[in-house]
Amino acid sequence: MMQETEQDRAKKLAGRKVIEEFVRDGMKLGLGSGTTSHFFVRELGKHVADGLTLTCTTTSRFTNDVAREVGIELTDPNEIGELDLTIDGPDEIDREFNMIKGGGACLLWEKIIAHASKQMITICDETKIVDHLGAFPLPVEVVQFAWKQSDRLIKNALQDHGVAAVETTRRMRDDKPVVTDSGNFIIDCHCRRIDDAGRLEAALNAIPGVVENGLFTRESDGMVVGCLDGTAYVS
Ligand code: 5RP
Repeated sequence: MMQETEQDRAKKLAGRKVIEEFVRDGMKLGLGSGTTSHFFVRELGKHVADGLTLTCTTTSRFTNDVAREVGIELTDPNEIGELDLTIDGPDEIDREFNMIKGGGACLLWEKIIAHASKQMITICDETKIVDHLGAFPLPVEVVQFAWKQSDRLIKNALQDHGVAAVETTRRMRDDKPVVTDSGNFIIDCHCRRIDDAGRLEAALNAIPGVVENGLFTRESDGMVVGCLDGTAYVS
C-alpha cells in the first residue's frame, strides 16, 4: 500500500472541513475531480451511509466510479436542475480564487457543473495556493479535428496576452494522446506566469476548435484549505 504523505493528509482535512462547514442535508451537490475531490467523495460516502440525504452529480467518469464505490447514488446532470453547491479542487489557486484546473483533463465538465451551481467551494491543500497563476501548465481542451491549427492559434493568443516564451504540448499518456470524457485532446500551455487571467480565459475560448480552457476566474466563491501542520481553514 502507498504511504500517505503530509499533502494527502492536508487534502483529507480540507475534505472533512468542507463537509462540516458547507454540506447540509437535502442539498443538490456537484462532486469534483482529482485526488482531493476523491478524498472528499470517500468521506462524504460515510455520511451518506449514516443517513445524510443528498442528490449528487459529478464532473468526470472517474468521479462517477468513486462515488458509486462508496454508495453515493448519482443523478444525470440533465435531470438534476440547479445545484446548491459544487465542491472541487484546483491545480493552482490565488487569493482571489482565480484558478488553473484540468490537471486531470476534466476541465470542461468541471466548468459546466460549477456554472450549474449556486455556489462553488474549492478544496485544496496549502501547496496549491500561489501569488500568480501560470507555473502549472494551463490545459486547453480542443476538438481533435485540425488540432494543430487550434494549437497554433492558442500560441498566438498567449503571445498577444503577454505570455512570453510559450511552449505548448499535446498531452500524452503511454505514448497515446489523452482523450477527455468528451472525446477531445488537451493542449498544455507552459506559460510560467499569467497576469490577466480573466481576459486570457475569454480570448482562448474564442478560438475555433477550443472547447474550454482551464482558467476558472469566475466560479469559486471560497476555499477550504488543509495545511501540512494538521490544521484547516475557510477563506
Ligand atoms: C481535474 C482537475 C483537478 O480538480 C485538479 O487537477 C486537482 O487535482 P488534485 O486534487 O489531484 O491535485 O482539475 O481536471
